[in-house]
Amino acid sequence: MSSPKPTARIVATGRCLPDRVVTNHDLESMVDTSDTWIRERTGIRERRIADAVTSAADLGAGAARMALCRAGVDPLEVDVLIVSTATPDRLLPSTACDIQKLIGVGNAYAFDLSAACSGWLYGLTVAEGFIAAGRARNVLVVAAEKMSAIVDWEDRATCVLFGDGGGAAVVQPAVDDRGIVSSHHGSDGALADLLYRPGGGAVMPMDEEVLRRKDHLVKMAGREVFKNAVRSMAEGAERALAAAGWTPDDVDLLVPHQANIRIIEATAKYAGIPMERVFVNVDRYGNMSSATVPIALDEAVEQGVLEPGMNVLSVAFGAGLTWGATALRW
Ligand code: UT7
Repeated sequence: MSSPKPTARIVATGRCLPDRVVTNHDLESMVDTSDTWIRERTGIRERRIADAVTSAADLGAGAARMALCRAGVDPLEVDVLIVSTATPDRLLPSTACDIQKLIGVGNAYAFDLSAACSGWLYGLTVAEGFIAAGRARNVLVVAAEKMSAIVDWEDRATCVLFGDGGGAAVVQPAVDDRGIVSSHHGSDGALADLLYRPGGGAVMPMDEEVLRRKDHLVKMAGREVFKNAVRSMAEGAERALAAAGWTPDDVDLLVPHQANIRIIEATAKYAGIPMERVFVNVDRYGNMSSATVPIALDEAVEQGVLEPGMNVLSVAFGAGLTWGATALRW
């Protein structure tokens, strides 16, 4: 089966990471954990944590500026700005509008997209839709995540997993057979309570009781999320590959959401892709929610692991639960 012809392609990527490195050993003095436990259960060695004055918008803006510069696109040429974030700086207005102001994409309309860790891949598909419909020529898809602001730093089961970062890509109409070939996304709201923040929204507005119970911070049923993550990413990969007319052997590089090395290994195994063809940086950054995929793509390009013409499969999952898989010819 021949691959569908792409309508949209990523022309450039960018990333922005806080300077501050927090190692597993640093965490040992904060909660009852150990470097060995964290490395063996998650593959994480260190993560980047933003300082108090750096916002999610700052991280997204840094990544966006880099992507625009590399694409040679003037900020005023951007038609749409899509920002995926699980950690909006404020509940109103959107982080996208804050990023718009920071980077000067004054002719774009900007909005947030909420799909947790899958959000950037969802955003890529939304960008593809705008371009396929002839409604945009330059779409900026940004992930802006300050996970350190929403984790409970006294909960060892979650605080060791996450990090902060921003990633971005400029998406334009495809001009040849390079671009987004297929994608498959899904969600299951019945599993919402496996990974969520109960308080602080309209249902349970912030008050002293919410703060005391720490209901404004992330709660997670780790094992259940793990199982669903592998199942949904493997299924997503299979569906995206089928839609692309690819077999696992056709995939030159798998770029998965970086949450846990064991999840990555299990997903790669189910997807039939050997680890030599899987991009991994979870050891250095931990789980930066939706920013992991664009940051991984950006690093893969910079390291020369990802080159023009290669077949890439990217998969992600997150709170919702949500998941997604996208096949691209780079
Ligand atoms: O983007 C989506 C975000 N979420 C995820 O990706 C999370 C997916 N889940 C996971 O990655 C894994 O479930 C975890 C890494 C969170 C946990 O690994 P696990 O192998 O599922 O461990 P567990 O939750 O079954 O806990 C095993 C033990 C428990 O102790 P007991 O009950 O056996 O005595 C935990 O209390 O490990 C304990 N534990 C820890 N020990 C040291 C939990 N966290 C820690 C810790 N340090 N940080």
